[in-house]
Amino acid sequence: MKAKELKKRYLEFFKERGHAIMGSASLIPENDPTVLFTTAGMHPLVPFLLGEKHPLGKKLANCQKCIRTGDIDDVGDGSHLTFFEMLGNWSLGDYFKEDAIRWSYEFLTSKKWLGFDPKKLHITLFAGNKDAPKDTESEKVWLSLGIPEERIYFLPKDDNWWGPAGETGPCGPDTEMFIDTGKKKCGPDCKPGCRCGKYFEIWNDVFMQYNKTKDGKYEPLKQKNVDTGMGVERTAAMMQGKKDVYEIETFKPIVDKVKDLAGIKNPDEKQTKLIRVVTDHLRASTFILAEGRIVPSNLDQGYVLRRFIRRSVRYGKLWGIKDSFTAKIAEIVIDIHKDEYPELEKNKGFIFDELNKEEDKFVKVLDQGLKQFEKLGNDGRISGKDAFVLFSSYGFPVEMTEELAKEKSLKFDKKEFEEEFEKHQQLSRVGAEKKFKGGLSDASYENAKLHTATHLLHKALREVLGDHIKQMGSNITPERLRFDFSHDKKMTPDEIKQVEDKVNEKIKESIKVEKDETTVEEAHKSGAVGLFANRYGEKVSVYTIGKYSKEICMGPHVKNTSEIGRFKIIKEEAVAAGVRRIKAVLEKS
Ligand code: ALA
Repeated sequence: MKAKELKKRYLEFFKERGHAIMGSASLIPENDPTVLFTTAGMHPLVPFLLGEKHPLGKKLANCQKCIRTGDIDDVGDGSHLTFFEMLGNWSLGDYFKEDAIRWSYEFLTSKKWLGFDPKKLHITLFAGNKDAPKDTESEKVWLSLGIPEERIYFLPKDDNWWGPAGETGPCGPDTEMFIDTGKKKCGPDCKPGCRCGKYFEIWNDVFMQYNKTKDGKYEPLKQKNVDTGMGVERTAAMMQGKKDVYEIETFKPIVDKVKDLAGIKNPDEKQTKLIRVVTDHLRASTFILAEGRIVPSNLDQGYVLRRFIRRSVRYGKLWGIKDSFTAKIAEIVIDIHKDEYPELEKNKGFIFDELNKEEDKFVKVLDQGLKQFEKLGNDGRISGKDAFVLFSSYGFPVEMTEELAKEKSLKFDKKEFEEEFEKHQQLSRVGAEKKFKGGLSDASYENAKLHTATHLLHKALREVLGDHIKQMGSNITPERLRFDFSHDKKMTPDEIKQVEDKVNEKIKESIKVEKDETTVEEAHKSGAVGLFANRYGEKVSVYTIGKYSKEICMGPHVKNTSEIGRFKIIKEEAVAAGVRRIKAVLEKS
């Protein structure tokens, strides 16, 4: 059964059982600053899981585009992907454990639907902890369906609990369904959850019966919900008797193209892994770009995209691919999925352009960067300083340096890089201030002024145009700032003037700019906007401009808004559907 047929049947099955079928939500969460990407179909449904009425009713189903960067280190095995499609069905305070499990079982095993042999099915359940009891309710349902005790496993919270998506919110125990691939057990303890590939997880039924509160308590929810997720690629692989997802019909043409471009006919184990990584990363990049509002950058989603592309480009060059190749792979991805996701075809030009630009940019410095890397590590380690040079002069995402160090068995601590990053920002500021006192202004001081002006602009846009304004990208050169933001209309001359006036007003007010160190979670709790990819739990800097603006940012910034000068918008234009771009300069006041 092809992936397309699987999706069709799933939605048909749940439609027959009273579910309204929804389309996929965007990969970029609309109003949720807690995540960079939509990682599950439940994300856009959080308000409804908490009791808000959904316009389509209490029973829903869809096929959702998802990106999970948390699994990136596992990409290259047979089952983990950064981009994947997930089928899901939801009960918003309607049916609960009994129906959800019975339907899962029926859909998986009935000859009319998927027809898996029930003997291949293994089930995991939540073992219980201090917050919630062992899920014996679900166990009873599985036993009643004929799954014997030997194929039911109780696992801890790490394995069998889902949510909340952010700090607080709906969550609960889950029951996961695995298919036994028939492979030999890797050891006596091998069971579902083991990574050896014997058991393939294909579906997860979550019973959202708790709400996690701010003080870490789990309160029973009035409305008991079901949230399920079935991996399309994995389930299709199992239906087709394949060993891994890369062999199914939606992957094979991409893998073949990568192999062809790389000139590899019979890849060994190591080559297979790299081919899979490139396949996964460029497939994910194509879908991110298809949203039409993210471009490669050093911030948030743009940084993830940059990492995907640059990692692929490095492997491509390793294989000796001479010409630009990333857009050629994207073309295959678009062909495979364009009927189901029209945004791929619609933004084709944008996707190719951005891939080509990023690839060209990186190829220009990659060789030199690798040469530079070769010179390092004589003392067995790569220092934070080394990694910073690779980042700032050769465009190596820090994760690439981390990977290169690992390949060469060199020690490397990412934290050292972050400290170096921070130190550098401070140093250039001190240097700038010294020069400024002597009556000179240099590039990095201009940079600090534009940075602070960007924060004021961001806030002013939200005041003038509304709270839907989100930063989509930002770039500063010594001459000007550029700011991309979500907004679907051209700004009127009056709106532009209002924004300029607000920024200039705040400059005139001579407000102190203050810096604070905290975690991303704390920063968001205190109302700060902005994110930096993959920095959860780590310390970040929050810059506050009086009561006006509060943003997570690496800086540098001026000490007082009075240093900025006069703010002037020189251009307002569209960059993509729903994304506007402002260019602004500072004039001497
Ligand atoms: N939200 C659940 C998952 O993604 C269904 O596994």
